Amino acid sequence: MKIFLDTANVDAIKKWAQTGLINGVTTNPTHLSKEGGDPKKQVLDICAALPEGEISVEITLQKPEDVYKQAKAIAALAKNIIVKVPCHKDYYPIIYRLANEGVKLNITLCFTMLQSLMMCKMGVRYISPFVGRWDDIDVDGIALLHDIRQMADQYGYGTGILAASIRTVRHFHDAILAGADVATLPINVFEKAIEHPLTDRGIEKFNADWQKLGIKQFP
Ligand code: E4P
Repeated sequence: MKIFLDTANVDAIKKWAQTGLINGVTTNPTHLSKEGGDPKKQVLDICAALPEGEISVEITLQKPEDVYKQAKAIAALAKNIIVKVPCHKDYYPIIYRLANEGVKLNITLCFTMLQSLMMCKMGVRYISPFVGRWDDIDVDGIALLHDIRQMADQYGYGTGILAASIRTVRHFHDAILAGADVATLPINVFEKAIEHPLTDRGIEKFNADWQKLGIKQFP
């Protein structure tokens, strides 16, 4: 199970990279816009902060031929970049072309098992089903992950299922049980997932009891 951070914040990426738990980062135009400054520098800083990680960087142009050229230019920025292209039918020919040319792709904005099947057939590296955006409109986003897992296993496709649009710790938990290969987590979800009030309370209690001994050095 790979864990990616869903952010473009370099400080947060550097902080959690030290744990060895983070296998990659997913950026998008919203994340890069939030950080401000020069997005190219931001992307290069992220790639340097996690040199062994897979860093997703999304295309920003619209016309398919422009997207093709931009995807190639993004891929050339660093060896650990995965290019994100939206799962729109207008881009299908260039997705196929890029995949065949060896460009590592993360197909974003996937909302159905059928869209995912098409991307698996094209041999892309990752598909990103958006869990939270389904939940936003009262549809069970986690059910989609189960469907895609079943489909990919049934046909033996090698495309990784990257659970995206994760909003809660429960989403993360359920994405694991659904067999997602990767979950990309906003920083607040990652931090919530690794803390527990009973752990905090337990540490306080052990410390308070230990102080009663009045020992200065141990061992
Ligand atoms: C990551 O690849 C996606 O862009 C991100 O998870 C989308 O999350 P959101 O639906 O919370 O914007």
